[in-house]
Amino acid sequence: MTPSDPVPAGVLGTIGATPLVELTRLDPARRFRTFAKLEAHNPGGSMKDRSALEMLGERIRTGELVPGRSTVVESSSGNLGIGLAQVCAYYGLRFICVVDPRTNQQNIAIMRALGAEVEVVRETDPATGEYLPVRIRRIQELTTLTGHAYWPNQYANPLNPQAHRRTMREIVEGLPDGVDYLFCATSSCGTLRGCAEYVRERGLPVTVVAVDAAGSAIFGRPPGPRLIPGHGAAIRPGLYRDGLADEVVHVTDLDCVVGCRRLAAREAILAGGSSGAVVAAVELMADRIPAGATCALVLPDRGERYLDTIYDDEWVGRHFGDITHQWKEQKSDMRVPAC
Ligand SMILES: Cc1ncc(COP(=O)(O)O)c(C=O)c1O
Repeated sequence: MTPSDPVPAGVLGTIGATPLVELTRLDPARRFRTFAKLEAHNPGGSMKDRSALEMLGERIRTGELVPGRSTVVESSSGNLGIGLAQVCAYYGLRFICVVDPRTNQQNIAIMRALGAEVEVVRETDPATGEYLPVRIRRIQELTTLTGHAYWPNQYANPLNPQAHRRTMREIVEGLPDGVDYLFCATSSCGTLRGCAEYVRERGLPVTVVAVDAAGSAIFGRPPGPRLIPGHGAAIRPGLYRDGLADEVVHVTDLDCVVGCRRLAAREAILAGGSSGAVVAAVELMADRIPAGATCALVLPDRGERYLDTIYDDEWVGRHFGDITHQWKEQKSDMRVPAC
């Protein structure tokens, strides 16, 4: 991508067009169909590759971001950081990512391997007890201190949701018989807003379900402790708008773990925590979803980055006790579908 070349080059050209697969084994007794958009298939391993490319691409095209001179700074729990590190490495831009101690070590190692500088904030905000306000303050400092710096600001940048109009377009085109429900996890609200705006502008009869973390403040609840990074936020993001979601489902950390473990055991999909949240949200709403409906689930990232938490028996036991029966339990009418 240069001023004369609007097409993302090299590996960046493989962002998007992720597979959409039917989940038939999660609960074969279900009377509705469930399809999963596997965003782990993006080259950086998550749907945030889309946001990263959209937010930097235009500035690279117009020459506002200059290799060797410009610095990109951002606060990320990992996935956007990896997406940005990927775009910055490709174009030779300096990238500083501000994270907090909840960010998993593997994400930090991946960003560093892609040439990013990673800063970990260790203090929480005295007023809220959260890391996010401290991360944002550090970004503002870095933007001021570093010459020629650009802060994409995923929580308020309209190019973040813009990227996810394409996510929704791919889902709609992949399910030509129609989509009745869309389930997506929320943090910056980029995915929710991009998908919701795409369907509303076209008058598509899709019920948009936002999946948020118990302990997240996005939909007006008081912030509380959360273990699993990815979905949820301590403050309401600038991208939030009333009415984006038709329904909101709050999911606990335990629900996420059970959802992830079921997805791995039954569908052989090793996905991240928010994918487990989305799976759990469908289960929580299942009784209200009409027979014959089609549900699309955005599964944001891959599970390898959660091997030492969600997929680690010792970690799970320490936080939740023995939950094996919860994800191994088979519904009475569940049978193993034919291969
Ligand atoms: C794993 C994961 N799930 C869900 C989300 C939430 O997506 P959004 O920021 O588009 O609301 C993110 C955002 O970083 C994420 O990394």
